Amino acid sequence: MVVKKVAVIGGGTMGSGIALTAATHGIHAVIVDINEDQLARATDYHTKQLARSVSKERITQEEASVATAHLSYVSAMADASDADWAVEAATENIDIKKSIFAQMSETFNKDVVLATNTSSISITDLASIIPDAADRVIGMHFFNPVPVMKLVEVIKGKETSSKTTASTLELAEQMGKIPVPANDRAGFVSNRVLMPMINEAFHAWADGVAEPEDIDSIMKLGCAFPMGPLRLADYIGLDVCKDIMMVMYNGLEENPKYLPSAKLIELVDQGYFGDKSGRGVYKYDKG
Ligand code: CAA
Repeated sequence: MVVKKVAVIGGGTMGSGIALTAATHGIHAVIVDINEDQLARATDYHTKQLARSVSKERITQEEASVATAHLSYVSAMADASDADWAVEAATENIDIKKSIFAQMSETFNKDVVLATNTSSISITDLASIIPDAADRVIGMHFFNPVPVMKLVEVIKGKETSSKTTASTLELAEQMGKIPVPANDRAGFVSNRVLMPMINEAFHAWADGVAEPEDIDSIMKLGCAFPMGPLRLADYIGLDVCKDIMMVMYNGLEENPKYLPSAKLIELVDQGYFGDKSGRGVYKYDKG
């Protein structure tokens, strides 16, 4: 099945990245977000990224205009009901996601795949809110920045049909991504491996092993990471890192190795969420 129009529920960093990637691969993308400011930020991000791609001669001005024409922004899900694919990219909170999925199953046609970009929450649990449509629910986990990162982690829930899986793999490829399967265990593969490493960097900092800059330099220069773990935590969002650790702690037999470090919790409690709030482990110039 060739997907022509994707509805992306949530216009934050991930949702706007997914929409841009779809649009630059010839797929119409409509972002649905009740927050008008979020829609304005998504529009601005798309305009800037397409202009940058033109200035870098990756695409022509004409291709950028075609991509722009493939993007739209609405605040009511009903205005995206003609989409032939839907992917949710809202806050990493099971209750919020469940209420969005209930709405998605009411809004879209009965053959539309209902994918989630969750980074850690159980697909089976999420699908349980819409038992009649559980066969169409699947995890389609993109990585930030979506236009750059090649991976899509694909996670089947207990009820996910083979038709849903096959068409998800197809869509990922249509979007220029490489889909790789993972099983439905909290954190899947990516965050099961990545987050404890990031968390350990906070422990190392708190234990006085080294200052953040040096922890990051050591991991960049010694392990060839594009960003050190603490810089990456800011980039992902410290609140998101903490939430993912808690999803793994709760979902993996409350194993204490998945408890977020006290240092991470302290920063989140202070409102230091990383790049998006202007301060996390590091300070950022919001301009
Ligand atoms: N959108 C689109 N393109 C972007 C971008 C964005 N937000 N950010 C960077 N880019 C592009 C730039 O345009 C640039 O392309 P050109 O050189 O062709 O212009 C290219 O990426 C490199 O960017 P920069 O030169 O600005 O900077 P860089 O070389 O330091 O790379 C980076 C930036 C790609 C973010 C790199 O540092 C990196 O790969 N970091 C690690 C990112 C990572 O690990 N992501 C996964 C996070 S985990 C996750 O997302 C899932 C989860 O569940 C938490």
